Amino acid sequence: MSRRVLVLLTGIALLSGCGSPPPDSSPRRMPEGTRESASARAAGRDLFMQHCARCHGTAMENRRQVSDRFRSPAPDFTEPAYRRADPGDLFQAIRQGRAGVGMPAWAPHFSEEQTWQLVAYLLSRS
Ligand code: HEC
Repeated sequence: MSRRVLVLLTGIALLSGCGSPPPDSSPRRMPEGTRESASARAAGRDLFMQHCARCHGTAMENRRQVSDRFRSPAPDFTEPAYRRADPGDLFQAIRQGRAGVGMPAWAPHFSEEQTWQLVAYLLSRS
């Protein structure tokens, strides 16, 4: 590898903050028992109905038609495919959102515990 390439790679590593990843970027594990906890799912359901149902809910839950017209439609978590979803991936998606496709970042709004409650509820829907 030429010296130039090496210098460039080092630069990229430094720019991307190599060594000190932002706290939200590491894989996360759902706290034990949350998925099975009826009270966590109930708390998650309340949050979902208030903040998420307009895009991710069913028609009965006031899903807005616009959410089917996003560049990638807001997923309906009752689809069986979500049974196998990785809780850590859902957690990250909720906290970080998806820039440019209509999914807001919720990290500023919810504690980590509330986010896991949402994940528990989403997983219970599929
Ligand atoms: C304004 C509409 C809107 C709202 C409100 C919204 N979302 Fe989303 N969400 C989206 C869209 C659109 C996508 C699809 C993004 C994509 O395909 O990358 C998405 C994607 C996701 C994903 C990733 C799914 C996957 O398969 O990777 C999760 C998890 C998620 N939303 C959870 C939530 C939760 C929980 C809430 C409420 C706290 C919420 N969303 C509120 C529009 C919304």
